[in-house]
Amino acid sequence: MPKQTAKAAAAATSPTAKARAAKAPRSRSKAARPSTPTQPAPPVENAAFGEDWWRRGVVYQVYPRSFADSNDDGFGDLPGLIDKLDYLNDGTERSLGIDAIWLSPIHPSPGFDVGYDVADYDAIDPIFGTLDDFGRLVAEAHRRGIRLMLDLVMNHTSSEHGWFEQSRRDPNGAYGDWYLWRDGRRGRFGRRIPPNNWSSFFGGSAWTWDEVRGQYYLHTFLPEQPDVNWRNPAVREAMLTMVRGWLERGVDGFRLDVFNAFFKDADLRSNPRRYRGRRPYDRQVHLYDKDQPELVDFLAEFRALVDSFPGSMTVGELFSSDPIGAVRLSAPRHLVFDWWLIKTPWKAPSFVRASQMREAMFRESGWPTVVLGNHDQSRLASRLAPRADATTSDEVARAAAVLSLSLRGTPFLYYGEEIGARDVAVTWEEIIDPPARRGGRLVRRLVPWWNRDQARSPMPWGRGGPNGGFTAGRPWLRMAPDVDTRNVAVQDDDSGSVLNAYRRLLWLRRRHPAMQVGTYRHVPTRTPDVYVYERATDDETIIVAVNFAAKERSFGIRTSRRWRTLFDTHAPDGAASREISAGGELTLQPRQAVILLGA
Ligand code: NOJ
Repeated sequence: MPKQTAKAAAAATSPTAKARAAKAPRSRSKAARPSTPTQPAPPVENAAFGEDWWRRGVVYQVYPRSFADSNDDGFGDLPGLIDKLDYLNDGTERSLGIDAIWLSPIHPSPGFDVGYDVADYDAIDPIFGTLDDFGRLVAEAHRRGIRLMLDLVMNHTSSEHGWFEQSRRDPNGAYGDWYLWRDGRRGRFGRRIPPNNWSSFFGGSAWTWDEVRGQYYLHTFLPEQPDVNWRNPAVREAMLTMVRGWLERGVDGFRLDVFNAFFKDADLRSNPRRYRGRRPYDRQVHLYDKDQPELVDFLAEFRALVDSFPGSMTVGELFSSDPIGAVRLSAPRHLVFDWWLIKTPWKAPSFVRASQMREAMFRESGWPTVVLGNHDQSRLASRLAPRADATTSDEVARAAAVLSLSLRGTPFLYYGEEIGARDVAVTWEEIIDPPARRGGRLVRRLVPWWNRDQARSPMPWGRGGPNGGFTAGRPWLRMAPDVDTRNVAVQDDDSGSVLNAYRRLLWLRRRHPAMQVGTYRHVPTRTPDVYVYERATDDETIIVAVNFAAKERSFGIRTSRRWRTLFDTHAPDGAASREISAGGELTLQPRQAVILLGA
């Protein structure tokens, strides 16, 4: 058996694949496929913000497998998500009050990269439901003023996509040039070697030999995720037709997976080597396998299409690149994730510096995103408060919520962060995340890959019952060990919970334009453990102060105004009635964060 096929077979025995085989066998023909919509897409009703929602609103990322399971097969699904829309926003302060959902991939996929390997862009994976469920989701979300963004994975398809299957079988056929196929080179002793030195981000060469076609094909990620050939106009047209189809079905935007990797050097030149870096991927300067100038043209075409559907927005995932790229590639209504904040340790000077860098890069006219967590990273509380007890972990989670909802930029909240979820350790046997499985135990020590399953555990909704109320079946991934105490129902009843802090902050943000679109100014203090900044519009000014230390800290605010507390992480009802007069001293408890409104 060829090496890659053996690996594929190993991955196919992952719990996802086994559970799928047992409970929901994938059949592309059975997958829900869109036809041209006969009904006009349902409009967004009563949304908090108009066309400007992409700057003022808050986006909530749903990882669909782990969000809500309606049929107890162990996988979250679209009907489950519909049932939870009121939790996300029912128009009252009892709900979270988010403005948009970014839904990680829901298309049919063999699951080698847990959905980021799409086998059919036009259909819904049966484990998530049907196209009717999708239509209902759009309508129900829009009825609540919630917009829906899909994840577009267009750098690569699954190796089980019909395009790839035809491409590998018939080099001269219609799909022959839809992927990046090349003959190998001859190495020492006439051995066949890949066409260039590019590494896969998930380990190993970025080229795999295909016996069927007798050529190598390129894959920036797994061999089961072949990169498409974006220089082929037919590929571009097919992708844009697909994008239009989903816009016509009523989606309000997209998150673009690794969009800066779409184009590769036309001559596929080898990357220069670097002599630093732990993983082979890091030991190359990625001059030729991403960030090519042709991207700019494509983005113009893509954005023109998206902009022809008023109120739409997109966000591009900047893949392994300098954050300055995030600025260069962003535009009004088209944001780009930069990773400064997600990489910033829990220290006031680090957050001050990260914000200063972001402000210097984006300037007042640019618009950043605020991202502290997602499905590829350690949970916010685990990352910012490693080894912390539950109380400390929650204090950090609440203070981080203040930052995430009051720094300048559009916040993206990853599901579960609102209950202070932490990483869940998964045993080696249970690992699903393919790059974590790939190397095996020994190689893993040399080529470390953090197991992303740890940040993807199913959402615990209730008290009592099995699996924290997520499913009566066997969850596709291990639940957190503390589901009986850390879940939505328990936190609902606790006014001091992380969940209630998020709710209060989200609704406060809705009422205070300074938190949404205000200018940003760092307010220096003499206390290095405290980060203070001001957000201001013509009509209001707020001050945010966060104590990162494990000790009480006092500092003065040099100002002629009087300040009233709008929000306080340490007051059970979230807002103490404290007033600070001009030039006054403020004392913050360990990990306390406050938002003050200038009188
Ligand atoms: C970025 C996605 O966030 C990640 O989950 C995925 O593995 C890679 N892109 C490949 O699609």
